[in-house]
Amino acid sequence: MLLWTFSVLLCALSVAFAKSRGISGRHVLRQTQTNGLQDIVTWDEYSFMINGERIALFGGEIHPYRMPVQSLHLDVFQKVKALGFNAVSFYIFWGILEPKRGELSFEGFRDLQPFFDAAMEAGIYLIARPGPYINAETTGGGFPGWGTSVSGLWRTSNSSYVDAYQNYIKTVGSKIAENQITNGGPVILVQAENEYSGWQEPYSEDFVYESRLLEDLRAAGIVVPITTNDAWPGGHYLEVDVYGYDSYPNGFDCAHPNTWLSDAVPEYFFGAHEGFNPEDLNAVYEFQGGAIDGWGGAGYANCAVLTGPEFERVFYKNEFAMSTTMLSLYMLYGGTNWGGIGMPGVYTSYDYGSAIAEDRTLREKYYEIKLQANFWAVSPAYLTSRPMNIFASQAAFTGNNALKTTQTLDAVGNQTGFYVVRQTDASTNAIQTYQLTVPTSAGELIIPQLEGNLTLSGKDSKIHVVDYQAGSTTLLYSTGEIMTWATIDGRDIILIYGNEGEIHETAFKFNTSTVPSASVVSGSGTIKQKANGNSLVIQYKTTGQTVVAIGSKALLYILDRDNAYEFWVLHPPSAGPFAHFSTENPIIIKGGYLMRSVFISGDTLSVTGDLNQTVSSLEIIAPAASSKVVKFNGKPIHTGKTAYGTLKTTQVIATLPSVTLPNLSSLKWKTADSLPEITSQYSDESWTVANRTITVNLLGVEVTANLSASLYGYHTGNTLWRGHFNASGSETGITLDVWGGLAFGYSIWLDSDFLGSWEGDASHSTFEGTFDFPRVLVAGSSHVITVLQDHMGLEENWASAGEQFKTPRGIVNFEFLGSNTTKVDVWKVTGNLGGEDYVDKTRGALNEGGLFAERQGWHLPGFDDSHWDTGSPTVGISQAGVQFYRTEFNLNVPSGVDYPIAIAVSNTTTGVHFRSQFYVNGYQFGKYVNHIGPQTIFSVPQGILNYQGSNTLAVSLWAADPTGAELESLNLQFTAKVDSVMPPVVNVPMPNWTPRVGAY
Ligand code: GAL
Repeated sequence: MLLWTFSVLLCALSVAFAKSRGISGRHVLRQTQTNGLQDIVTWDEYSFMINGERIALFGGEIHPYRMPVQSLHLDVFQKVKALGFNAVSFYIFWGILEPKRGELSFEGFRDLQPFFDAAMEAGIYLIARPGPYINAETTGGGFPGWGTSVSGLWRTSNSSYVDAYQNYIKTVGSKIAENQITNGGPVILVQAENEYSGWQEPYSEDFVYESRLLEDLRAAGIVVPITTNDAWPGGHYLEVDVYGYDSYPNGFDCAHPNTWLSDAVPEYFFGAHEGFNPEDLNAVYEFQGGAIDGWGGAGYANCAVLTGPEFERVFYKNEFAMSTTMLSLYMLYGGTNWGGIGMPGVYTSYDYGSAIAEDRTLREKYYEIKLQANFWAVSPAYLTSRPMNIFASQAAFTGNNALKTTQTLDAVGNQTGFYVVRQTDASTNAIQTYQLTVPTSAGELIIPQLEGNLTLSGKDSKIHVVDYQAGSTTLLYSTGEIMTWATIDGRDIILIYGNEGEIHETAFKFNTSTVPSASVVSGSGTIKQKANGNSLVIQYKTTGQTVVAIGSKALLYILDRDNAYEFWVLHPPSAGPFAHFSTENPIIIKGGYLMRSVFISGDTLSVTGDLNQTVSSLEIIAPAASSKVVKFNGKPIHTGKTAYGTLKTTQVIATLPSVTLPNLSSLKWKTADSLPEITSQYSDESWTVANRTITVNLLGVEVTANLSASLYGYHTGNTLWRGHFNASGSETGITLDVWGGLAFGYSIWLDSDFLGSWEGDASHSTFEGTFDFPRVLVAGSSHVITVLQDHMGLEENWASAGEQFKTPRGIVNFEFLGSNTTKVDVWKVTGNLGGEDYVDKTRGALNEGGLFAERQGWHLPGFDDSHWDTGSPTVGISQAGVQFYRTEFNLNVPSGVDYPIAIAVSNTTTGVHFRSQFYVNGYQFGKYVNHIGPQTIFSVPQGILNYQGSNTLAVSLWAADPTGAELESLNLQFTAKVDSVMPPVVNVPMPNWTPRVGAY
């Protein structure tokens, strides 16, 4: 209500401002804010500042724990940098760092330092988000499994919770602190909590907890501004230094990727922000960069369409219209839910449909964002801008009701205007034509001035500029969008783009009425031009690439979108520790799959980059004196000059060697039974007796359970239960209510007899099944029920003060049928060997579950399987049970290329119910549920796979049907082939199997 009143008021003001050119009255600069602890990162109502310089932070989210190969962080950061971004936000996952209370590990893949170092080396600022709660589709939302047994409400000031996180926040806080910009590191902001925005009834925002967490972070040494990401602009946790919010306006329905709601584009954000923290910038700490896909979902390729280039154009430009000077896309690179990282709602891939795909390749989305990011980076007027008419944008400046145009004006320079045009109905694919009537320094103009109309086709949005400065060139206006501009050798190079074939107009303003003329110096495009007082108006079509000289001082590249995608803007490093953050001396390069770096030494320009086509041509726009010699990836290349003085080479040749991957079906596979638990000889002596009880409040419903695996230290992976009982003789079966999370399943045996399975589906987290006994039990005879259940991760705990993450994983209820006297004498449980005292310190606490094979370490390299039978997972088994398979193969992928590999399975036998896990050199990099899907391609990064030597692949096969199961096919495949100068990949440690003392 309050918000609405405010919005209406703002709307009225905006209309008044929009009418006139000036925005006087709004350009009083408030005082720069600091938190009093440092003066390097400051801010005001418009933007953050670093060392006193305004900066728009445009970046995205990456999770170090979703990419365990530390040496690959730099590759991803360089791709982020090449995009024109300057920031990365990242979560830190408490549960994976402190899997046993009091025992934090930062060993190997858990070490945060390589991530900090890679950011520094790429020149990317970091926003650290240590939680303690992170959500992030991680098991428990980032909370450690042992937390499920800590009584009291979490995410509140309840002391049992506050005590629980102390050790973690102190330790991780100090590691972040060491890497703050104040200590020469890349961290500029730290976020407290995550979406502290919703509370389980009857609780509400806990201000004591909020303050306490801020104190804890400060005590750990955090001095940079502390932020929070409200789940929506709702005004929670305003005590932080710079409040901000999240937004996922296109939702998560990847099955309908082309369906947008007509009012999907959020318009109230700026107003809401002004209502809560007008003294700060408008910060969006998470904005949709892709979408989650769950078990049985539509697949990430679809999510990449839902949030594809059209989405990016419409929604990100709307954020631009709202003067958002901090925008972080969630996710920018998703990575993998390897091991047990994921919560039940997600499968192994966390590709997210992001701009950078799981295998680190670049989607078209990437190239689209590159256009926008580069524009932000060279448009300082934007840094002090205000949207003027957010609730009066319909028909504004165009007279066309089908269009909305937001006027965003530079409130400090009082000169530049940005006009962001989009469809009124976001869902339409209609084509709109319009003319723009805008105030300019040359009076009100109707654009295009020469002839015709502008167009907006379907799901699109454009930023038209007015009185925009590009070096010493003043654009009176441009309807063609600016990708970037740079002054090189005294000439302003301006890149302008539009959709193929569109008509656009750009006008240049001069100090005198003797205006130069424009001439096409390259390309087949034609221009119309007209001198008009002090200005020169040119009209053109954006088709291909046409280069136009405006007198001798400016060079205009007129590009269609595809051509614009090919340009890169790179900056040679300056000196000192922040050398790679330099935004000086831009070099513009056209061509290649990815341009990573430029370096100038005397008269030599060295460029590095990746190629995915055999022959590429590059055009290089660089100062002549420093590019007499040009090297590409270390080798001198011959360059010629274009008619207009830039460098051009057609000599860049990619080396894309052909590499043959092993054919998995012709390898020697060994196999063994991984369910000896159902044999009469098996002893569960070493299992944990399940005799504890927990009561949790699940969104108002009390649940008491003693057969919950986490009570016994088993927080991940397959879990086994055994219930010993003496028969009364009248039992006819058993009913079990088992909880495992979405898409889980379970199978049950009476002694050695298979009773049946709940195979699982995409919508059940719990399932009560009834299983008949196949025979009459002799009164007084002893028996055992064995239940093998899948554990899809702990639930998240989005609602604070709730206990959702404590939701049991186990048997919540059971009952014998036909006999109410039969009692289970003892229930026993096992998950991963050692539970919280997990055995494999290298691969971490979430890598192994409780399958017999995993407890024995059969998934590890070096295990001696010579005495096993021969057998492959594509042959499978013909009864219900768990079978384990191992094989070895060599890879010989040369260096100098990036050939990502995936394990691929095919699935036409959807009716067969089975679950498989894939272990590569001991790392679990795939969990496949045949009848639920959707994932059939499992990306395995180089470094987990040994690209130059031997590899061990192990596969578990849990057949849930009495007729058994087999994998229809299992292959290795390349998902891309790129000639790459990515930093060298160092394999993760892959310790071999050693005897597991006491393994049972
Ligand atoms: C946000 C949350 C993130 C992530 C995202 C969906 O609300 O802050 O952690 O869960 O939703 O992917």
